Amino acid sequence: MWRNRSLGAIFVLIITVALAQAQQPNSCVDCHSALEGELHVTQEQFAQDIHAQKGLTCASCHGGDPSKTDDSAMSKAAGFKGKIERAGVPKLCGSCHSDPAFMRQYNPSLRTDQFSQYQTSIHGKRQAAGDTKVAVCTDCHGVHDLRPASDTRSKVHPLNIATTCSRCHADAEYMATYKIPTNQFADYKTSVHHEALVERGDLSAPTCTTCHGNHGATPPGVGSVANVCSTCHVFQAQLFEASPHKAAFASAGLPGCVTCHSNHGISKPSDAMLGTSAHSVCTNCHTQGDAGYKAAGDMQQQISGLETSIVRSDRILSQAESSGMEVSQPRLELDQARDALTKARVTVHTFAAHPVRADVDSGLKITTKTYGEGEGALRERDYRRTGLGMSLVAIVFVVVALRLYIKEIEKNQ
Ligand code: HEC
Ligand code: HEC
Ligand code: HEC
Ligand code: HEC
Ligand code: HEC
Ligand code: HEC
Ligand code: HEC
Ligand code: HEC
Ligand code: HEC
Repeated sequence: MWRNRSLGAIFVLIITVALAQAQQPNSCVDCHSALEGELHVTQEQFAQDIHAQKGLTCASCHGGDPSKTDDSAMSKAAGFKGKIERAGVPKLCGSCHSDPAFMRQYNPSLRTDQFSQYQTSIHGKRQAAGDTKVAVCTDCHGVHDLRPASDTRSKVHPLNIATTCSRCHADAEYMATYKIPTNQFADYKTSVHHEALVERGDLSAPTCTTCHGNHGATPPGVGSVANVCSTCHVFQAQLFEASPHKAAFASAGLPGCVTCHSNHGISKPSDAMLGTSAHSVCTNCHTQGDAGYKAAGDMQQQISGLETSIVRSDRILSQAESSGMEVSQPRLELDQARDALTKARVTVHTFAAHPVRADVDSGLKITTKTYGEGEGALRERDYRRTGLGMSLVAIVFVVVALRLYIKEIEKNQ
């Protein structure tokens, strides 16, 4: 049964392929699938390519005549363009992708500005000036098995982009002639963003092109660095904009967020970034005696005070809970104190102690209450235990008294 079906399927497949080949002879694939090295291009490979799937052929990009089975297929007369050099790639791809009238026939929603954007990027500008090492379309997209970005196997799928860029940007030898670092990929792999994107599958976390753009690839200038982060971290950005650091950093030529958090290797923030210890970011610039130093110490004290207070409440409620007391209401309230703590850590970006204190105070008000409720629950438990103990004593007393009484009656009889 199974054998018959699969034989049938193979038969249908052979017929289909034969018919397709009879209609559209493609000598290019026939001949090139038998060649080796860079000349090796197979039917299976090209069938994965979006261009093949949309009905384009080898000749759409290379010219030539696929109906000829010998070398004349690649003759000048047949329109064959010869080898496509790296320098010619953007222009070739752009010849269709910059043509809205042509592209609309296939996919009206596809943008047609990739080539013009590319020309504004560092890659495009250097390429136009004759640099052949910068990225061209095929470095990022591949060739002959080129897939749309939404396909998880595409080189430009969000989960694969960092690796695609790293092929050049993490290769110190390849990049040796340029005066830029090659640690972006290594740093990025340690970052909160990589963890969110790759380990937790959170596609809202940024990869290289989210921050740098894909076709207009250029690092944001110092002025726009804060803007990159602010597209996602809106609250921190608003507070930073209104803080004393906004003007102070700008006049010192420093970027915003990146000055404290770095750009590629952003690690998970902690309260240790505040305060006056060696781990503090504030003491990079502020010294004992100035207002920033004092604010850094204050904020850390406030925040760790609330955290300790939440832990204390949590502990007493757990104690009450494990002795069977009902504390679900204070537990819910304690969650609000945790929210206040989260908010305080965002409010840090005002870089002023009193707004942080306001958040912390509203949290402390809750923890004072929940701790009281925990104490109340324990008192109630103790009260019930004492009550239980006393009734036990009373029962024992009655039982003993009864026995004595019965013994007395027996003696009397
Ligand atoms: C009969 C076999 C055969 C056919 C048919 C054929 N090719 Fe080739 N092709 C070759 C060989 C062999 C080479 C390498 C030698 C050379 O450059 O001539 C080559 C080279 C190429 C190159 C690289 C050019 C270079 O200078 O490095 C491209 C591109 C190419 N073929 C595309 C095509 C396309 C498109 C078609 C169909 C229109 C096609 N070929 C048909 C055999 C073939
Ligand atoms: C969407 C455009 C496009 C299509 C369709 C296409 N190619 Fe290519 N091909 C290119 C580009 C661009 C290059 C140059 C690759 C590079 O340098 O990045 C290339 C390179 C080649 C080479 C030369 C490899 C070398 O380095 O010398 C051969 C051979 C080739 N293609 C054959 C084919 C065959 C056969 C088909 C059809 C099965 C095909 N191509 C379809 C764009 C295309
Ligand atoms: C002969 C015209 C033509 C050439 C040359 C061409 N393309 Fe395309 N490309 C198309 C068409 C048509 C589609 C299908 C659009 C659709 O239906 O989504 C497409 C699709 C794509 C897609 C997928 C778009 C998506 O997300 O749906 C990418 C990426 C792409 N091409 C990149 C390239 C690159 C890189 C080159 C140069 C190596 C290139 N193209 C050369 C016509 C062309
Ligand atoms: C530095 C890497 C890089 C280079 C160079 C590059 N692309 Fe892209 N391209 C991307 C990325 C990343 C995406 C995916 C964007 C997304 O996720 O929507 C993309 C998407 C596309 C798409 C799909 C539609 C769209 O705009 O989202 C097309 C078509 C395309 N590129 C064509 C080109 C062409 C043509 C060139 C050369 C002129 C080129 N690309 C050069 C990285 C690159
Ligand atoms: C084929 C190799 C290659 C690939 C792939 C590549 N790049 Fe580049 N890139 C270069 C080279 C070479 C430069 C030029 C360096 C310079 O001018 O200092 C460059 C420059 C840049 C710059 C500007 C750096 C500066 O000088 O300030 C940025 C940003 C950049 N690339 C980002 C990316 C991103 C993001 C990707 C992946 C989507 C990528 N590149 C993929 C080779 C590549
Ligand atoms: C969260 C945003 C973000 C992500 C993700 C990101 N970058 Fe950057 N990148 C920046 C910023 C901001 C700068 C500017 C440097 C500065 O002013 O400190 C920069 C600078 C660069 C530069 C210029 C040289 C340098 O190191 O200063 C290159 C090249 C670069 N990035 C490549 C990459 C690559 C490759 C990836 C992915 C592995 C990547 N970036 C991921 C924000 C990002
Ligand atoms: C495309 C959106 C996006 C951009 C742009 C972006 N981030 Fe993020 N960021 C995220 C996401 C998503 C997370 C993961 C949040 C989580 O842990 O649930 C995150 C996490 C963080 C964290 C850790 C937060 C925590 O509570 O653990 C910091 C710090 C951070 N980003 C700073 C930055 C900085 C600085 C920039 C600019 C250089 C930036 N981000 C750019 C989306 C973005
Ligand atoms: C002057 C230094 C400094 C600057 C500038 C700065 N931050 Fe922060 N950021 C911190 C400190 C310190 C913390 C840790 C607060 C804590 O956990 O107690 C933090 C924490 C964070 C967090 C995690 C907040 C949380 O909920 O735990 C994010 C996200 C973040 N910053 C994003 C940004 C963004 C976006 C910018 C730019 C608009 C920025 N930061 C600018 C010092 C800074
Ligand atoms: C890159 C250097 C740098 C870092 C890091 C930095 N500051 Fe500042 N800060 C400045 C400069 C410059 C000013 C403006 C000049 C001044 O008043 O000292 C300033 C001003 C302040 C002010 C206002 C002082 C006043 O007189 O009104 C406070 C408060 C402050 N910073 C707190 C902090 C805290 C808290 C941190 C750590 C989370 C921090 N700063 C990290 C450079 C920095």
